[in-house]
Amino acid sequence: MQRDPDDRPIVRARDVEHAYPGRAAEPVLRGVSLDVQRGEMLAVVGPSGSGKSTLLACLSGLERPLRGTVEIDGTDIGPLSRQRSARFRRGRVGFVFQSYNLLPALTARENVALPARLAKRPADRRTVDAALDAVGMLDSAHRYPDSMSGGQQQRVAIARTLVARPQVVFADEPTGALDTVAGGAVLDLLRHTASGQRSVVMVTHDLAAAARADRAIVLRDGIVHAELVAPDVDALFDSIERASVRA
Ligand SMILES: Nc1ncnc2c1ncn2[C@@H]1O[C@H](COP(=O)(O)OP(=O)(O)OP(=O)(O)O)[C@@H](O)[C@H]1O
Ligand SMILES: [Mg+2]
Repeated sequence: MQRDPDDRPIVRARDVEHAYPGRAAEPVLRGVSLDVQRGEMLAVVGPSGSGKSTLLACLSGLERPLRGTVEIDGTDIGPLSRQRSARFRRGRVGFVFQSYNLLPALTARENVALPARLAKRPADRRTVDAALDAVGMLDSAHRYPDSMSGGQQQRVAIARTLVARPQVVFADEPTGALDTVAGGAVLDLLRHTASGQRSVVMVTHDLAAAARADRAIVLRDGIVHAELVAPDVDALFDSIERASVRA
């Protein structure tokens, strides 16, 4: 039977194993398989050091796993050269990481407009300003990153990611640097982003944030320890507590 390509998971990982150079004896990922469905918000939780950020880097193509395969939108990204991989990801994959990488010579508004321009899908001023408004940074559109707090830079970086309209957004602790109100706004935005054909994979320590996801996976020592569908805070807490108990 011919499958509709839109039914394929946007991300498909099989038996992903990873260790950092020079630390082959300490594998960080020890065989992770998962699918991210289109329109889904997936939370990745687990104790510190369990491999969450490494998993995100492998799923998004930033890090090449030692073994196993990662497909994005039906393409195995493993064999792609660094350059082709970057080109493939542009426009498909968005990042919300704690190092915001805003360009210091550009204003907030210019930073937000940049990736869409690079992807040759320029965003008009209204779209850019709507994204800045959604993260509460429209009043700062003319400011340069140096004059913003870490949390403000993070919000501009999120606006920048969303304006490029990627198929999948990878977010590592997106609310970590934010106060409750700003964190709530960012979470609303990510929740809203995960709909239709667009997906979000979010690493978080914040169980209330993880409970907004459609599904959560709990990592422990580099493997998927549990999977929770429509997770609530209590179930997440219990699961992470069990994952934190050393064997
Ligand atoms: N660039 C790197 N080089 C070498 N080792 C690394 C590197 N990045 C992470 N590690 C190691 O890999 C393991 C998993 O790290 P990772 O950052 O994936 O964990 P995490 O679950 O995201 O933790 P946290 O919740 O503290 O962010 C840790 O033991 C860490 O020391
Ligand atoms: Mg991490």
